[in-house]
Amino acid sequence: MSQKPIKLAIFASGKGSNAQKIITHFRWNPDIKVVLVVSNKSDAGVLDIAANAGIPSLIIDKERFFKNDAFLPYLAQNEVDFIILAGFLWKIPENLISAFPGKILNIHPALLPKFGGKGMYGHHVHEAVLAAGEKESGITIHLVDEQYDHGKTIAQFTCPVLAGDTADSLAERIHKLEHAHFPEVIEEFVTGSREQEAGGRRSPE
Ligand code: GAR
Repeated sequence: MSQKPIKLAIFASGKGSNAQKIITHFRWNPDIKVVLVVSNKSDAGVLDIAANAGIPSLIIDKERFFKNDAFLPYLAQNEVDFIILAGFLWKIPENLISAFPGKILNIHPALLPKFGGKGMYGHHVHEAVLAAGEKESGITIHLVDEQYDHGKTIAQFTCPVLAGDTADSLAERIHKLEHAHFPEVIEEFVTGSREQEAGGRRSPE
């Protein structure tokens, strides 16, 4: 590919195991690069992962994130094309959604539209799945819009809920599913979006 690489920013609030898989997946890819890691927590494990990979990181505070003084220009300076939410727990403000239309992907640890919405993250999701007696759970990779866990679904993958599962054992199975699929779905999605944009810019024949 002779064009500029596609640049990704990963937003994460926690341990960052998905961020790690994404960074490793794209490490040697000349066409897609992780250029920035953003976290709302100064002690998030994902910051160490970024540092070890030599990727710049930014700790964002509420004021800056939701009131948007310098944050959007910062993303622009870093030429960010797509934002990947990998366990990021703040709602994405409208100005960010408008600045990245169809270019923010989230991973949710259940089969949306069930078990989504405000407060549904991490263990809360798995506990709700178990309490509902579901026989199957999974992951949803979707576009982000103004509502929690609501935008268009890009991909879903399923796994069984087993007798005797706890939130921890289910979380472990779900994490394996996320690690196995999220990086590749991102790759296909961002590559496809760029091709579509390039196609859309061609003058009519
Ligand atoms: C992942 O399981 C992700 O699906 C979930 O947070 C976890 C982050 O794990 N996201 C949500 O619950 C969003 N509603 P990680 O920090 O190890 O990647």
